[in-house]
Amino acid sequence: MSVAPAQTAPTFQPAVARRGGTLKGRIRVPGDKSISHRALLLGLLTVGKTNIEGLLEGDDILATARACAMLGASVERNDAGAWQISGVGIGSLLPPAGALDFGNAGTGVRLMMGVAAGHPIEAVFDGDASLRKRPMRRVLEPLARMGAEVLAETEGGRLPVRLRGAREPIPIVFESPVASAQVKSAVLLCGLAASGETTVIERDVTRDHTERMLAHFGATIVTSEEGAGRRIRLKGRPELRRQRLRVPADPSSAAFPLVAALIDPGSEIIIEGMLANPLRTGLLVTLKEMGAEIDEIDRRDEGPEPVVDLRVRASRLRGVEVPASRAPSMIDEYPVLAVAAAFAEGTTAMRGLAELRVKESDRLATVAAGLAANGVACEIVGDDLIVHGKGRVRGGGTVATHMDHRIAMAFLVMGLASAKPVAVDDASFVATSFPGFAELMGKLGADIGR
Ligand code: S3P
Repeated sequence: MSVAPAQTAPTFQPAVARRGGTLKGRIRVPGDKSISHRALLLGLLTVGKTNIEGLLEGDDILATARACAMLGASVERNDAGAWQISGVGIGSLLPPAGALDFGNAGTGVRLMMGVAAGHPIEAVFDGDASLRKRPMRRVLEPLARMGAEVLAETEGGRLPVRLRGAREPIPIVFESPVASAQVKSAVLLCGLAASGETTVIERDVTRDHTERMLAHFGATIVTSEEGAGRRIRLKGRPELRRQRLRVPADPSSAAFPLVAALIDPGSEIIIEGMLANPLRTGLLVTLKEMGAEIDEIDRRDEGPEPVVDLRVRASRLRGVEVPASRAPSMIDEYPVLAVAAAFAEGTTAMRGLAELRVKESDRLATVAAGLAANGVACEIVGDDLIVHGKGRVRGGGTVATHMDHRIAMAFLVMGLASAKPVAVDDASFVATSFPGFAELMGKLGADIGR
């Protein structure tokens, strides 16, 4: 394939953000990370050429593209964001010649474990120091029930993991103990290779991009309500039909300029073509409750997903209560919500954030430490994060990012509106999900530099 080989560990890149002028202008942030991973994986599992536009060209996705190539696909980049993947089809993955290295990407590795578990191949899955700390048993356990064999794993169910996929995967009924779209998707992707119906029951509804994309590629997948959650039934061994896909802009990336414009007085920006799937837009609901002026100016469908253009104006924010039930629809947005909460007046209580402990870093701890370093009062109570906003932030701190892109971006956003600059120790991981972040923010008038 025509993608550069895996990079060695990036060097530390400190960065600093300073208060400057107001933010003005119109931007489109890069493609959605969740959808970009899935587009490549379904391309791999479809015979023939799948064309993707707007693919996120972040390090996480490039790792998935390389893994697809190692499993038999031919992957070509034709232009910026325009990729073509010629897949091998369900049941026809090739055994990879070396370890599959997913870098920093939890989604990439967990979804690909699901794909590989449905094929009679052996593969080693690995990642960087951050990914090697994250729990993998949550996917390995259901995949073992489906017939895959974990030949080797690192203590505590961590990477590197050697997996042997099933020759005849068993279709199971799986009730997920965690609210995780990655776990759900791994089971469904393995279920594609099973003869019979695989069922996933989720108590809390999580992002449904896998379900939508599978239906778009012609699989028979039926979702029904099940209490407060959902039951998803997938018929195995479908004949996937190749598609043209356009990846909407990532709401988890849009969250950074969006919050920056809200907290930087006088700002007004437009964010174009953002994915508006209701299972991803909990941040918008919360910010509106806090008093944010966010207007939808055009809502439309792009393939299997809805998208929207947003107008965002600087707003006076007030503290709110964020219920635990909203967490799955904004799970990646808590770091930047905590920054918005610091600039709000009053207390914001974010409930039920246990899952933040197993992200790219322990985000409960890294967010609280970053807030404290910049003079913001906050507490962790059980699984809740409580931020006491004063309407303004002192800043002046240096934040330890722990290989976490969203911690870096959230605190750089803080520095754009705090009295003193905010520094982060390493912004190199921003490239995993938001290549060109500092440049795009600069286009709006933000001062982010070395
Ligand atoms: C993702 C699911 C979420 C999210 C991650 C992307 C996905 O993780 O945090 O960034 O694309 O399925 P969990 O499934 O662990 O909640």
